[in-house]
Amino acid sequence: MGKELRIILLVLLAAFIVIQLIPANRPVNEQGNYDFFVENEVPEDVEEIIRNACYDCHSQEVYYPWYAYVAPASWQVAKDVRHGRNNLDFSKWNQFDKREKLNLLDEIGDEVGEGGMPLTIYTIIHPEAKLTIAERERVVNWSESLAEKVFEE
Ligand code: HEC
Repeated sequence: MGKELRIILLVLLAAFIVIQLIPANRPVNEQGNYDFFVENEVPEDVEEIIRNACYDCHSQEVYYPWYAYVAPASWQVAKDVRHGRNNLDFSKWNQFDKREKLNLLDEIGDEVGEGGMPLTIYTIIHPEAKLTIAERERVVNWSESLAEKVFEE
């Protein structure tokens, strides 16, 4: 190995080690939350889709894999969970009023129907979260039927 290449690799290695000292501030999972699936009679197949494809960013039941502890991936994961929860947190569903619930259900249908969610960065690493067209339709139809129920409440 040439001397210059060795120096470049050492600098990269040093930088990689140093960035590990920057905290990622991964959002923690709050305990004792409302259980969306217990409270809303979600069909089993839809529950499975939402748990597999959405819960790692939109709930208080986030599972952090090993790379969520290694910078710079950890920064991205923390940011996605923070922004994801700010937009929609299934574990805090009971804290939304009727208008917010209807708005969120509408957006769930739009995002899933148009393929905006789950985020591509997530399905690349979690291929099992990739949704088929039939699964997308299933979620869209379910979000519409729950919206009807919420509307009538
Ligand atoms: C990897 C993390 C991640 C996953 C997995 C994920 N989301 Fe999101 N979601 C986000 C982020 C981040 C945002 C905030 C919007 C943005 O910044 O692009 C968001 C926004 C949203 C919004 C609000 C959109 C808006 O315009 O306000 C909805 C609804 C949503 N997601 C639904 C879902 C559903 C349903 C699933 C599962 C099928 C899902 N998301 C999976 C990260 C994720």
